Amino acid sequence: DCPINPADCYRTYCIAADGVQRSVVVINRQMPGPSIQVCQGDTIIVDVINHLMSETCSIHWHGMHQIGTPYMDGVPLITQCPISPASSFRYNFIAQNSGTHFYHSHSGFQRVDGVVGSLIVRQSRQSDPHSSLYDYDLPEHVLLVSDWLGELGVAKFVAHHHDDGDNKPTSMIINGRGRLPKSRSELTSNETIPLSVFNVEQGRRYRFRLISNGFLNCPIQLSIDNHTLLVIASDGNDIQPIEVDSVVIHAGERYDFVVNADQEISSYWIRLHGLMDCRVKEVFQGAILRYGGAPESEPEEDLTFQNTEHFGKVLNPVNLAPGDDQHITVAELKALANDSTDWTREPDQKFFLAYDFYAVNNWHFHDSQYYPILGVGNNFRLYTPQINHISLRMPSSPPLSQFNSLASDVFCNESTVSNCVNEFCECTYTLQIPLGSLVELIVIDEGVKFDATHPFHLHGSSFRVVAMERIGSNVTVDQIRAMDENGLIRKNLVDAPMKDTVAIPDGGYTIIRFLATNPGYWLFHCHLEFHIEIGMGLIFKVGGHEEFPPVPESFPTCGDWIPTASSSISTN
Ligand code: C2O
Ligand code: CU
Repeated sequence: DCPINPADCYRTYCIAADGVQRSVVVINRQMPGPSIQVCQGDTIIVDVINHLMSETCSIHWHGMHQIGTPYMDGVPLITQCPISPASSFRYNFIAQNSGTHFYHSHSGFQRVDGVVGSLIVRQSRQSDPHSSLYDYDLPEHVLLVSDWLGELGVAKFVAHHHDDGDNKPTSMIINGRGRLPKSRSELTSNETIPLSVFNVEQGRRYRFRLISNGFLNCPIQLSIDNHTLLVIASDGNDIQPIEVDSVVIHAGERYDFVVNADQEISSYWIRLHGLMDCRVKEVFQGAILRYGGAPESEPEEDLTFQNTEHFGKVLNPVNLAPGDDQHITVAELKALANDSTDWTREPDQKFFLAYDFYAVNNWHFHDSQYYPILGVGNNFRLYTPQINHISLRMPSSPPLSQFNSLASDVFCNESTVSNCVNEFCECTYTLQIPLGSLVELIVIDEGVKFDATHPFHLHGSSFRVVAMERIGSNVTVDQIRAMDENGLIRKNLVDAPMKDTVAIPDGGYTIIRFLATNPGYWLFHCHLEFHIEIGMGLIFKVGGHEEFPPVPESFPTCGDWIPTASSSISTN
């Protein structure tokens, strides 16, 4: 019973996740896709079969480091060929790092349209340092949350950039379901979708695993009525436990927390509030925490948008004002255990990565398969988010497996391109890092054009979040460089938390350090879908090809093919 806007219906499936029918792209006819739950050290084998009619696809295992298996990272045209319609690809890798992760398409807007699922890698009780903080034997609860659009991602994108359509999400979903942001009495019966229920027994302590598959500029703030959240891990890395009233999660991040079911037997709202662009339309969502023995009805309290001041002590607040010490930024978390790396030494490589939105002509999609869908010339002005004024352009073949198919000048960085401040520069933006380097990235949000918080995700390893600060608007690289040189940046080099996705405050910076011991080509990018799609990312080439694991046998190839005259033309 597919709707409505014929342009929306070039794909086959429609669902009403939030009460409104729209077409989606899903895995195994379900959304989210099947939850993959394994033990640390297990081998994961997934056959991805592309049933789409006209689009390529891929799956990225967000949070898996793929040490020794860079070919399984799932980034089309970087680590593998796009999976063509009517073709399949087998992913085969070991679940090396434990914790709460997820998987999603890394092609086009498919992640926005439903190609996502949770990926949980469990630790044994003995190796879980937090196993005494919750009842290890009880079922755990996974909350996969995201903003949600009333239409396909590409339709939203086109409407926003070619028309007067907005770029704001219309609702949010929790494990694939939710309601429009209306009060109960305003919802029609079609719109009253049953909300997700999380069952608990009074007197027990539960591990919750929160994952954000956010698409647009919509950090999500979660709280549970009458309960606090004891946060024990982020992005699969254990931290020193910290008790808060609510947690803000950005696209691509994960938080694990313990909920102590020590209240009266009843049902309680798990509340989600949208921030930034979701705040504009006061987007909120609910799920139910239900105690065993409580009636199967929704909590009495109103589920409506509330001002976030009511959320008590917040972990990971958006754009903390200077001097605000009620809340806890991610950089203030503490890693649980230390590794053998000396994080305090001078980094071997240091990069200043500054970004904002720049008005440019002749921009491109990062995934060229969208040109025909859009049917547009691309010679109009667009505010494009770029890092150091360069847009990431995917090459025609994956450099990891087909380096020799590529012209040497497809790769670029600040030292090989010029005049990018006035002209649009796009190329395969790649920074080379010798294997074993300690790398420091100073990621700067210049805070000029729009009010946005960009979460950056690193493929291939975790990093330490050593500093984070909001300064205000009009932040420049020179200013931050001077602060750094004069020792005015307070860095935690001792027990900074490990993560793989972190937000940069609007008009501020976040500094991360990682040890580049995993050879391969690793993407570093903004996890907002509309930003990576127009090139807000770059590639770290860690090590050289002689240090990469060998290309798997019969690995698919792709790229340009030009017939030679001699092989195909016979003269007699
Ligand atoms: Cu979850 Cu490159 O992304
Ligand atoms: Cu962004």
